[in-house]
Amino acid sequence: MKTTPYNISELNQQFNGSTPQELLRYFLDEFKGRIGLSTSLSIEDQMLTDMIASLHPSTRIFTLDTGRLFPETYSLIEKTARKYPSIHLEVFFPDATEVEQMVSESGINLFYDGIEQRKRCCNIRKLQPLRRAFEGLEVWICGLRREQSVTRSDMQAVEWDEANKLIKLNPLIDYTEEQVWEYIRANKVPYNQLHDKGFPSIGCQPCTRAVAPGEAIRSGRWWWENPEHKECGLHAGK
Ligand code: ADX
Ligand code: SF4
Repeated sequence: MKTTPYNISELNQQFNGSTPQELLRYFLDEFKGRIGLSTSLSIEDQMLTDMIASLHPSTRIFTLDTGRLFPETYSLIEKTARKYPSIHLEVFFPDATEVEQMVSESGINLFYDGIEQRKRCCNIRKLQPLRRAFEGLEVWICGLRREQSVTRSDMQAVEWDEANKLIKLNPLIDYTEEQVWEYIRANKVPYNQLHDKGFPSIGCQPCTRAVAPGEAIRSGRWWWENPEHKECGLHAGK
């Protein structure tokens, strides 16, 4: 049974038709000091970072450095910190002993050996650090959009994340990719240079490849797996 202390469906009704800024402003005020954005430096997360920098720059903003990110993503972390001096971008790393053990048992590129190994790597490099990042939080802001994939098509702006006992806020849930780009361009928000080279969705370097024009946005992520498995566990269960 779900144990949410909040009325999630009421919150969704209340903000039905609101802009991402209106939704963010309410939650940033209401949960001040207990709300944070987890950013993968995607265009969606960059848009949210830009909004938070003008609404409430002291809000926690953190990223998970898996150790396997693209050089372009590290450059963007730098660029973002320079563009928004009022925010502090926290970086969380995986546990060194766990990574060493996994790699010595199963190899550095174990994720290509099947879904079990891939999930093990995501668990150690992303999920465990995310749990540490959640310390003290009641609301987790994400850049998920419904049109991103079959696994996200029924998500809501406000959700209860039972596994982590947190409200999960998706201010851009209704946005199209084009709308996000419009915001990025209009506000000169820094973005990952790989987007100009055929990468619409960017995760870890060995698990992301470029896609052809017209291909599904996330088809370059874990491309060797079926679309319905393509979640690393961060956004798996509601
Ligand atoms: S993933 O689960 O497939 O990697 P995706 O790249 O679509 O997720 O990003 C969706 C949301 O998950 C992001 O908006 C962000 O909130 C969170 N997220 C994904 N990867 C990271 C990361 N490395 N660090 C922090 N947050 C992340
Ligand atoms: Fe490991 Fe790939 Fe998951 Fe990154 S996306 S944590 S490299 S399996």
